[in-house]
Order: sequence, then structure tokens, then C-alpha cells
Amino acid sequence: MRRVRPPRQEGHLDRRDFFRVTGRLGLGSFLVAEAAALADCGGSAGPSTAPNAPAPDLGSTVTRPPETGGGTLLASVGSQSIWPGATTAVWTLGGSFPGPTIRVGRGASFSARIENRLSEPTNVHWHGLAAPPEMDGHPSDLIAPGQSRDIAFPILDRAGTYWYHPHPDGRTARQVYGGMAGFFIVEDGREAALGLPSGEYDVPLVLQDRRTSPDHSLTYAPGPMDLMAGVLGDAVLVNGKPDAVLPVAATLYRLRLLNGSNARVYRLAFADGRSFQVIGTDGGLLERPVSVTAVDLGPGERIEILVDLARDPVGTSIPLRSLAFSVPGGMGGGMMPGMGGGGVAQGTALDVLRLRVDRSGPAARVPATLVPFERLDPARAEGTQAFTLSMGMMPVAGAFTINGRSFDPRRIDVRARRGRLELWEVRNASSEPHPFHVHATSFQVASRTSGPLGAQDLGWKDTVLTWPGEAVTLAIRFEQYAGLYVLHCHNLEHEDAGMMLNLEVS
Ligand code: C2O
Ligand code: CU
Ligand code: CU
Repeated sequence: MRRVRPPRQEGHLDRRDFFRVTGRLGLGSFLVAEAAALADCGGSAGPSTAPNAPAPDLGSTVTRPPETGGGTLLASVGSQSIWPGATTAVWTLGGSFPGPTIRVGRGASFSARIENRLSEPTNVHWHGLAAPPEMDGHPSDLIAPGQSRDIAFPILDRAGTYWYHPHPDGRTARQVYGGMAGFFIVEDGREAALGLPSGEYDVPLVLQDRRTSPDHSLTYAPGPMDLMAGVLGDAVLVNGKPDAVLPVAATLYRLRLLNGSNARVYRLAFADGRSFQVIGTDGGLLERPVSVTAVDLGPGERIEILVDLARDPVGTSIPLRSLAFSVPGGMGGGMMPGMGGGGVAQGTALDVLRLRVDRSGPAARVPATLVPFERLDPARAEGTQAFTLSMGMMPVAGAFTINGRSFDPRRIDVRARRGRLELWEVRNASSEPHPFHVHATSFQVASRTSGPLGAQDLGWKDTVLTWPGEAVTLAIRFEQYAGLYVLHCHNLEHEDAGMMLNLEVS
């Protein structure tokens, strides 16, 4: 029965093995297996600190990942201090968790060599960027252990906050959970001319929830219920640090927030309810800042905000939290103790980060306008495609589908023609949120059946959160490359379980 739990770090259990095991289990033996697993855990499945407990005075100082323009990115197992006083084995791309921030100019040619020193296949996907199909990290295009791959492609996308992570079919969730992911920031002159906060006042922050364990490990061991909701943690790491504190000056900050979590949706807000300006989404800056007090961020999505700390005295601590929310019509994964390996339910309030003002800063202002961009007009669409996201009641083979299909690398499911504007209707027919992600291009959100668009919907996107019962309409046009790509749910457990389709662009 213990075999349903994938082995630790170096172990191997791919999607097919998992389903071979769980697929045989009826509901009765499934519950027995989980009860046994719970007993084995000695009741340690719950979070070690209540999410609403008062924050302690100290915390872990958040640092920026190192920066690079390319070069060699080693996929390897290393160790890093994450929790105070402990060393944790991490899987890394480029030697750190998170990986080095790749920073390049628009129009530049990017090149890198990926060297796989893991004991299993991997690859790297440049999330949000238009890359030629043979450079995109298709889930079937693997780098075997001991092999390397040279990557080179021109940066055609707008200035913005993109990211990179592994994408091997059936192994993505575990490799990302172990630490493999980093920022990919594109810059251009247009953005630089705006005078937005830059340098130390422009901070990339990746949010990744993890399960706190007594041995301070990043062991990836989902139980069957975890696969339904996705693996949810009990603590949010920011740039690889729990209980994160960012020392700041009393001035205007640009925060580039990336949800690099496997399954967690955040509803981000400052604890004092202050408003902040959303200035950018997945694919770069908006036309103008939009003032909000909270914003939703699903797995894979990015949001850029300006937060004004100019009137906060030195010594102030300003918590950034994820607010409690209920998943409409949803099940709230992780709520049943012992049904998974730990973690707190989707929608639970969580501390994310504290901004601690420790010095004065320069005067700065929020620009009235940002960067204009082409609006994809739904009225001019030349065609429509529909996508229905569904889940069965149990994580068995074929339970996670798009249009009734589970990923089959040998089958082409979706076709799109370059230069043709289409409307894609993405309907969530399940009880869990699904972040819908498309490779090779960016799109715009045209409408949501659940109500008005959120601030995170207002610009170029490559990932859009869909709530249970909701249909989201996207205006989409492929531009750059023809070839084989994928689209998928960016809940990484769902993706690995087959909620992904092959997409052929011609
Ligand atoms: Cu960030 Cu295909 O994924
Ligand atoms: Cu992608
Ligand atoms: Cu999903």
C-alpha cells in the first residue's frame, strides 16, 4: 500500500506507474491505504504553524536570485539553507533555488546550454516567450541524464516578467517542487523611458507554497487527494524563504510577483488594506496603472505592482497576505486531514511576505500612462475553438481531461494557423480552479461568465485562471513559429496527470 507514495528525491514513479498503482485501487482500499499512510505519519500531516498565528519578530530575509544573461544552466541536485538552522536538498537549474534570473533585452538573441546532471530526464520551457518548437521544452522533447542541449532563440516578446521551468511529461510537478524554476525578465527602451522604479527598487518575487516537514525536506510525496487539488503547502516561500521579510526603503517599489506554486491560488492584499497599482500582467505592462486592494494570482501567472511606501516610517512592517476565499462550487483540496500529505486547503488565508521599512528612499511617482498595446478585437475573430476542462472523482488514469482527452504525445489535438485571430472559450466543468496555459503565443481575456474581468486579466496573458463553473473567453492569435507545442492546465499535478493537449501551429 505504501507504494502509492512516490519515493523520495531520487526515486522514480511516473504518471503511468502512478495510475497503474492507484488505478487498481477501489474506493475501499483507497481509504484503507490513506488511513495507513496517516498512521505512518504519526499525525504530523497538519501544518506546523497556524496560518493566522501572529508573525514572529524575526523572519528570513528575502534576497534576489543571482542574475545571468544565459550561459550554462546545470540541472542538478544541490543543497541550500531554506529553513533556519537546516540544510535542504534541492533540485536546481543553475545552482540555486530559485534559479538565476535571466535578464535580456528585447531583440537580443538568447543562448544557453542545459546540462542534465540529474538521474532522470528533464528539459526547460521558457514560459511566456515565443520560442521555436525545438527550443520550447515540449514535454516529449527530453534531455537524458548526462546529456546537454544548446538553446538559442531571439527574444521577440514585449518587455515583461516571464519564467523558466522544467516540462518533462509526468515529472514537471516534482522537479518544480524540488526547486527548478527561475525568472526570465525581458527589458526594452520603451519601458526604461517610463522611469519606473528600477535597480534595488524593482524586485522579482516568486511565491511557492511548500509543506513544512520535521526534516526540512522538499520531499515530493503526493497522496491521491493531493492529485485532485494539486499539492498545496502550509507555508509560502518567497524566493525560496519561508516567513519572508523584504527590507525596503520608504519609497515606491515595483514588485514582480510570480506564482511559481504547483497548485496554490493567491488572493494578494496588504494587511492594512492599502491600495496598490497593477502595472503589468504575464506579457508586460498595461496601458495605464490600475488601482486595486487585492488581486488573484493562479499558478503560472505573473502580476507586476507598484506599492508606495513613501509615507511609512522606518520600523514599519507591512504584511502582504493571501486572503481567505471560497472556491465557488469547489471542494477545497487539502481540507481533510490525512487525505493528502499535509498542506492547507485552497483558499486558506496565508502570510506571504513582510515589507520592513528600514531606511528612507528617493522620491518617486506612479506614471499616469504606461505602454499602449494592440487590442485583439473579439468582433474580428475568424474562428472559435472550445475547451472543456474536466476531472473525475478519483485520480485514476484518464481522469484529468481537456475536451475529454488525456495527454497523448502521439496525437495532435488542437490546430491553429498563424495570423488568424480566434476566440477560445475555456469552460471549467470541474470543482477545482484550473489555470489554463498556452505555449507559443500570448492572448487577451475577452470575457468571463462569472462577472467583470480582474486587474490580472487586463493585459497580455499566457495563463488564465478559470474557476469552477466559469467559462473564460480568450482572444488569441499565433504569430511567430509553426510547429508542435502544447496547451495545458498549469496546476502541475493536473498537467502531469494528463490535463494537456498537443497543439500544432501551422
Ligand atoms: Cu509554465 Cu507549459 O508551462
Ligand atoms: Cu509555457
Ligand atoms: Cu487543473
